[in-house]
Amino acid sequence: MPSILITGGHSGIGLAAARELAARHVDLVLGGRDAARMRPVADELSARHGVSVTTLTVDVASLASVRAAAARWRTMRASGAVPELDAIVCNAGGRFDGDVSYSPDGYETTFATNCLGHFLLVELLFPVLSERGRVVYTASGTHDPDSTDGRLVGTAVEPDALALATNGKGGGKALSAGRRYSTSKLCTVMYAYELDRRLRAARSEVASIAFDPGSVPETGFLRDLPGPVRWASRTAAMKWVSRRMGVVTSDVGFSGASLAALAAGPDYAGVSGTYFQAHDGTLSAVPSARLSYDARRAARLWDDSKRLVALTDDEEPPQLRSPRLRSRQLRSAATDDA
Ligand SMILES: NC(=O)c1ccc[n+]([C@@H]2O[C@H](COP(=O)([O-])OP(=O)(O)OC[C@H]3O[C@@H](n4cnc5c(N)ncnc54)[C@H](OP(=O)(O)O)[C@@H]3O)[C@@H](O)[C@H]2O)c1
Repeated sequence: MPSILITGGHSGIGLAAARELAARHVDLVLGGRDAARMRPVADELSARHGVSVTTLTVDVASLASVRAAAARWRTMRASGAVPELDAIVCNAGGRFDGDVSYSPDGYETTFATNCLGHFLLVELLFPVLSERGRVVYTASGTHDPDSTDGRLVGTAVEPDALALATNGKGGGKALSAGRRYSTSKLCTVMYAYELDRRLRAARSEVASIAFDPGSVPETGFLRDLPGPVRWASRTAAMKWVSRRMGVVTSDVGFSGASLAALAAGPDYAGVSGTYFQAHDGTLSAVPSARLSYDARRAARLWDDSKRLVALTDDEEPPQLRSPRLRSRQLRSAATDDA
């Protein structure tokens, strides 16, 4: 049976995807920060569908937690206790309203949670991903400053990892919560594309896919906003207004099923480097923001992220190293041999 890790798989869009995958007889690993919240979901899915559902405790906002979780999983894999993964679905995340806050590592919470944690998780778990595995990133249409979603939430700024990680520190003015969020999702799309470039350069068959679930107000996504705002966002009237304004609307069942299809569906093999959007019952490949295709910026985002998460060159799987690093290592190996 295939086996898929999904972060945030115990709630919202992640849970809807987990339900769909379990119904397709996919074994699951739920990644989340609270084991007590994941356990009942794991028990329910395995009882209903006869699949194996493991939980992996991980707080993606904490680099130590990501490292510990990846090490636990790799040790279990080495002993044969768990199978290789067929997909890693980087889905946990959210917008963090209110005053700017920082992760245990001192990085701005939105960027730490939505970007750095998953960046490190993918690097560390890549060796236990199957040869034709997939990495799927839950991004958001808000990443595109030229879209209605992007304008409403707050237009994304320059995807500069060092500036975003330290946003609001040292007396600097913090970005609004909306802009912190949309920019983190611009970075997410750029990680997906940069991973695809590196995989293709290394002739890997692993796929890297970005996904916009659309606006889905039924989940815990708006949890930091006042109750009346949350209530209003779920009404049919507000959905109608959103559609009229050009917001990309969806519902939790369809967005979850779309995420599951991208992670495991045979129709989505061979679509690496593509951005998909769920929009009122249709899942299709659509263009992402203009800036998201900037390969030079994406390479810098990757290298800076590597520095921020303190990942060494040796720790980075060969397939994920930049072509520049790979050729430097080849040259130094050749010198050693001579
Ligand atoms: N709903 C929308 O309109 C919408 C639109 C575009 C994109 N998205 C994206 O879709 C993804 C899923 O969101 P959702 O709408 O399903 O909202 P949700 O119900 O709030 O789910 C978010 C999940 O992320 C987990 N999470 C948050 N911070 C975490 C951390 N530090 N470590 C580990 N897990 C953490 C949450 O776990 P806890 O239960 O522990 O908090 C929860 O399971 C997110 O990436 C979100 O940005 C949502």
